[in-house]
Amino acid sequence: MARIVAGVGCSHVPAVGVAIDKDRHDDPYWAPYFAKIAPAREWMRDIAPDVCIVVYNDHASAFSLEVIPTFALGLAAGFPVADEGYGPRPVPPVVGHPELAWHLAESLILDEFDLTLVNEMAVDHGLTVPLSVLFGRPSAWPCKVIPLCVNVIQYPPPTGRRCHRLGRALRRAVDAWPGDERVAVLGTGGMSHQLHGQRAGLINTDFDDAFLDGLVADPGKVAEIGHTEYLREAGAEGIELVMWLVMRGALDPEVNEVYRATHVPTSNTHNGLLLLENAAP
Ligand code: DHB
Ligand code: FE
Repeated sequence: MARIVAGVGCSHVPAVGVAIDKDRHDDPYWAPYFAKIAPAREWMRDIAPDVCIVVYNDHASAFSLEVIPTFALGLAAGFPVADEGYGPRPVPPVVGHPELAWHLAESLILDEFDLTLVNEMAVDHGLTVPLSVLFGRPSAWPCKVIPLCVNVIQYPPPTGRRCHRLGRALRRAVDAWPGDERVAVLGTGGMSHQLHGQRAGLINTDFDDAFLDGLVADPGKVAEIGHTEYLREAGAEGIELVMWLVMRGALDPEVNEVYRATHVPTSNTHNGLLLLENAAP
């Protein structure tokens, strides 16, 4: 059966993507951040997943307010890189895994998670920046990608509890796949940030650090954090953290924390990177 070999939490700050694309690693603003992510790149090279299931949110690139799927799964053989206003990022094509994705669709829907199925979808910084953080600038991404898109843009987003349960269903689906793929699950976005309004620039490292501690050791408790608390404590865009709960749900209850790094400043966001593996081999 396929095996989940890694769970990764990773912010998706667009400016990080630009810094990678323009090779600004040694810039004094960025150098301390890139020093912190280096061990994650090394670990991902060792782990060498065949497939990354990337739980991310679209930022009005593939979906507008005309259609707002709560959970959408990408089934295509490939996903074009979205033009977010400055032309598509110069990153390799994102190659899908339609066979596994259709299996996930069947398993999840029969497990009562009624996903939207997407055969054509451009992917924006929410998906491509975490790939760049983890894999750098290769000529081709080293793994296939299955996008699992979560609405955290338009109220009402799904609850953290629902996301955690989706992760557990995702785990059952991967376990039931007869292939021998090594699968990484990425929960992306967050941590605390707010991009607009009076509290623009809000960062709450205390909340984020407690979130990470809880996500590792007691995810059931963290899953009970409600929308109002995310909004109050982590800012309007801090709600992106619910996607890390999908990732955590796909792992065993007991995990090893392989690596954690957090950093300020990266644009407006408290940037987080968390590497987990199942405690039992
Ligand atoms: C920033 C962070 C995000 O998550 C995002 O989607 C856009 C911008 C930022 O910090 O600039
Ligand atoms: Fe975002």
